[in-house]
Amino acid sequence: MKVAVLGAAGGIGQALALLLKLQLPAGSELSLYDIAPVTPGVAADVSHIPTAVKVQGFGGEDPTPALEGADVVLISAGVARKPGMDRSDLFNINAGIVRNLIEKVAATCPTACIGIITNPVNTTVAIAAEVLKKAGVYDKRKLFGVTTLDVLRSETFVAELKGLDIDSINVPVIGGHSGVTILPLLSQVNYADWKADEIAPLTKRIQNAGTEVVEAKAGGGSATLSMAQAAARFARALVKGLSGESVIECTYVEGDGKYARFFAQPVRLGPEGVEEILPIGQLSDFEQNALESMLETLRADIELGEKFVNQ
Ligand code: NAD
Ligand code: LMR
Repeated sequence: MKVAVLGAAGGIGQALALLLKLQLPAGSELSLYDIAPVTPGVAADVSHIPTAVKVQGFGGEDPTPALEGADVVLISAGVARKPGMDRSDLFNINAGIVRNLIEKVAATCPTACIGIITNPVNTTVAIAAEVLKKAGVYDKRKLFGVTTLDVLRSETFVAELKGLDIDSINVPVIGGHSGVTILPLLSQVNYADWKADEIAPLTKRIQNAGTEVVEAKAGGGSATLSMAQAAARFARALVKGLSGESVIECTYVEGDGKYARFFAQPVRLGPEGVEEILPIGQLSDFEQNALESMLETLRADIELGEKFVNQ
């Protein structure tokens, strides 16, 4: 399998390159691309780690050489938030970056699975879908918004709060990836004996966890290390799926449109990307209300991306 990272010299990209060098199956190839001149150096640096993953680095204006033969493309190219900003404030810069990169993906490796990390994810995934559609190569089974960080955070915070073994916890997170559109289904967590006053503040903490990091970094960017781990986990799941194993991850995909055109929920991954979109299961009254009240925001975020490409 060949995995390409676009934005590989950034805070997420460099950490992700390291994790993929360590975690991809032996025999994989890792292709690193960024417009920053340091990129070939990042690739040289990572390539000295003794694992059976071959690394190549590419700079310059054109990502095409990095994309040739890619099975998986992860995109973290773009700008990150500073304190006081919302993810939607990144739209003006990141929308164009994602559009241009996806045009190259469409032309060079149209059957690759694409994981979009660049914010605002609710919107950039819609942009990617419309660009792929225009190029005549859109396959909704192969386009993903990477929402795995919301799952990691939920699992960590639940384990800490309830004193549970982190390895035993699985928290589905549905919806999208910003504010109220992030909805952890805490009622579905095994072993957790919830008190009535725990659910609302914990849900809010998970929804605001990105802002927690942005404020703590005080102008130095947003989550990079935890995000890289999240993206590495998601990339490994995609690679396993493509290799014939069945893996389940929550991710933001185009499904049946019941809630919104794109919606994060548990998905079974397989040789063609999405093999099956799994039901979100039973929701508590709190979760049902939260789901209903996020939909207007989520649909508007998606429409913004669709209009960006089509108008
Ligand atoms: P960063 O500024 O550290 O890195 C971004 C990199 O993108 C830079 O190296 C830059 O040179 C590169 N870049 C810019 N334009 C490019 C282009 N056209 N082609 C190739 N590379 C280009 O930012 P970061 O902290 O790595 O964050 C990247 C993005 O990921 C941000 O939009 C951030 O909001 C988002 N993010 C998403 C999640 C999530 O859960 N999905 C989590 C954290 C961050
Ligand atoms: C996150 O959730 O950490 C990312 O989406 C980055 C951000 O701006 O919060």
